[in-house]
Amino acid sequence: MSSPAPNFEGKVAMITGGGSGIGRASAQAFSAAGAKVLVADLDPIAGEACVADLRSRGGIALFVRTDVTRAEDVDHAVNLAMQTWGRLDCAHNNVGGGVSHLDLLDDTEAQWLRTLDLNLVSIWRCMKAQLPPMITAGGGAIVNTAAAAAFKVVDAAPVAYSVAKAGVVHLTRIAGVRYAAQGVRINAVSPGLTETPGATGSLQEHEIRQAATALHAIPRAGQPRELADAVLWLCSDAASFITGVTLPVDGGMVAK
Ligand SMILES: NC(=O)c1ccc[n+]([C@@H]2O[C@H](COP(=O)([O-])OP(=O)(O)OC[C@H]3O[C@@H](n4cnc5c(N)ncnc54)[C@H](O)[C@@H]3O)[C@@H](O)[C@H]2O)c1
Repeated sequence: MSSPAPNFEGKVAMITGGGSGIGRASAQAFSAAGAKVLVADLDPIAGEACVADLRSRGGIALFVRTDVTRAEDVDHAVNLAMQTWGRLDCAHNNVGGGVSHLDLLDDTEAQWLRTLDLNLVSIWRCMKAQLPPMITAGGGAIVNTAAAAAFKVVDAAPVAYSVAKAGVVHLTRIAGVRYAAQGVRINAVSPGLTETPGATGSLQEHEIRQAATALHAIPRAGQPRELADAVLWLCSDAASFITGVTLPVDGGMVAK
């Protein structure tokens, strides 16, 4: 017997980095499941394009230009969701990326701090703004985006990025435990190599296949939709007894 598709009618979801890749797929998945979606992204062209796409399919969505390294932007995004729709039920804190080198000797201190800020402190910043309205309302669900490089040494992943993502895993664990009694579940997804503009946009198809086959047990790259499905499931009632975990959605990359 198959479970019914998750239903998010009447709920509001905030997606950071919703303009591209995994975040865009997540915005599409929440919208298709009936949620009103706030797309928070640094890039207004990508963010507005995502919102236009959701609206063209009958969804209710809003773009807000947000730099997740700025607390005032994050606070403004959460306030906008509250003012517009009166609630915030779900959040996918998804922004991250490599702004440092593969070899730690090549990094400057500024690059390390910038990488930690973009990948780890930003997740804390988002949860700091999202948790109070969720707690006041009696509950909510948050999913953060980690990375397989948080769990193992990946030659192709910058050191500072991998360490920051390992921090996301533990921050998710601590926050998941800390806010469980207040009804907020906090989990993470951990992608392997996923076909997105940010990760594979500059690669040829055969290069993606070659890299994915070397990294994964399932010999292909992940698709953004596969991450989005996991995010949606973790935010749904089907995952009502799950908090503090990081779910690998990585084709067996960490297991391999
Ligand atoms: N794609 C992969 O192979 C892969 C693997 C492991 C982890 N991840 C993680 O998944 C997440 C999404 O990756 P993706 O490949 O979909 O990325 P992407 O580059 O395709 O999209 C990232 C989006 O984030 C936005 N963004 C960048 N900086 C921002 C900021 N400061 N504030 C707000 N928005 C900002 C960009 O404008 C863009 O729309 C990241 O955290 C990444 O580290 C991806």
